[in-house]
Amino acid sequence: MRGARIMGTGRELPSRVVTNDDLTKLMDTSDEWIVQRTGIRERRYADPEVANCHLGTAAARKAIEKAGLSVGDIDLVIFATLSPDMYFPGVGVLVQEMLGLRNVGALDVRDQCSGFVYALSVAEAYVKGGFHDHVLVIGSEIHSRGLNFSTPGRDVTVIFGDGSGAAVVGPAEPGKGILSTHLHSEGKYAKELCAAEPGFLQNPWLTHEMIDEGRIYPKMNGKYVFAHAVRRFPEVIREALAKNGYATSDVGMVIPHQANERITQAVREALELPTEKVFSNIERYGNTTAASIPIALDECVEQGRVKDGDLVCLAAFGAGFTWASALIRW
Ligand code: UT7
Repeated sequence: MRGARIMGTGRELPSRVVTNDDLTKLMDTSDEWIVQRTGIRERRYADPEVANCHLGTAAARKAIEKAGLSVGDIDLVIFATLSPDMYFPGVGVLVQEMLGLRNVGALDVRDQCSGFVYALSVAEAYVKGGFHDHVLVIGSEIHSRGLNFSTPGRDVTVIFGDGSGAAVVGPAEPGKGILSTHLHSEGKYAKELCAAEPGFLQNPWLTHEMIDEGRIYPKMNGKYVFAHAVRRFPEVIREALAKNGYATSDVGMVIPHQANERITQAVREALELPTEKVFSNIERYGNTTAASIPIALDECVEQGRVKDGDLVCLAAFGAGFTWASALIRW
């Protein structure tokens, strides 16, 4: 069977920077609290006329160019997001149209912070199996339109930001590129981090009360999510290494989903890896959910921190609960 590799990456961040001090004008919070608890100093918010599909398309164009391909080479679009432009259809079809792709398939993945790694695993399978040659994988979010900017929403709102990252997956020699992917879920914890209303569990699915009582915003049991994340990240990274016969000392770079700097620090400590081997950019972008890993990967490649031949591990944990990893020989 042939291999599958990431041929090119791209990212698109809105230009509007929102600092912690900006948020203190809207809710009872402080720069000190946010930095101490999360490591975040600023995040990006999209301007009103910018939609998720715009960010995703811009990131995708860069990834296709860096892969040395043209849009006509793309066989399939996979779009991972929890903040779709429309309830339906998915964002993948909007990107297909905006890029001017021929009538290729467009698949949306709904696995939140693990969305990009889940989507990458689908691309890996299609390319390794010979069903598609060039799969465009996008992780992209516009959180800023779905957050509660008053004090009751502060625990969630200060964390999240907008952004988009993309990768093109194409054929590789066997044993090169994506070595394996590992997906997990534990749906019994779905309600610990969710936006359940509006939704079709309710009848009617949307009411005035949901809006008036602020029930339409994401709810998070932060401590609970934190406790699971610090266990699952090291576990799923070790799983990927063990599957391929490697030790943590073989890893050139771990790129974790950017959930919270304290979680990233716990991953470093659990795996006994030096600071420079576990990438972090949460200080500048906050948590961009499905976009955080492809944005970080693109920055790593650009900064020369991921080079040909390096062993790279992507790892994610988030709502669902879902968690996942991908081990890549770059
Ligand atoms: O991407 C994956 C999904 N999400 C995550 O991975 C997030 C995981 N969880 C976390 O990162 C942390 O739990 C948080 C950053 C969300 C919260 O940190 P914490 O250390 O668990 O704080 P806490 O929830 O225990 O809150 C401590 C205090 C509370 O006040 P009292 O009850 O002690 O008086 C909160 O009301 O901090 C208060 N608080 C805030 N204060 C200022 C909560 N949010 C804020 C805020 N600004 N933004």
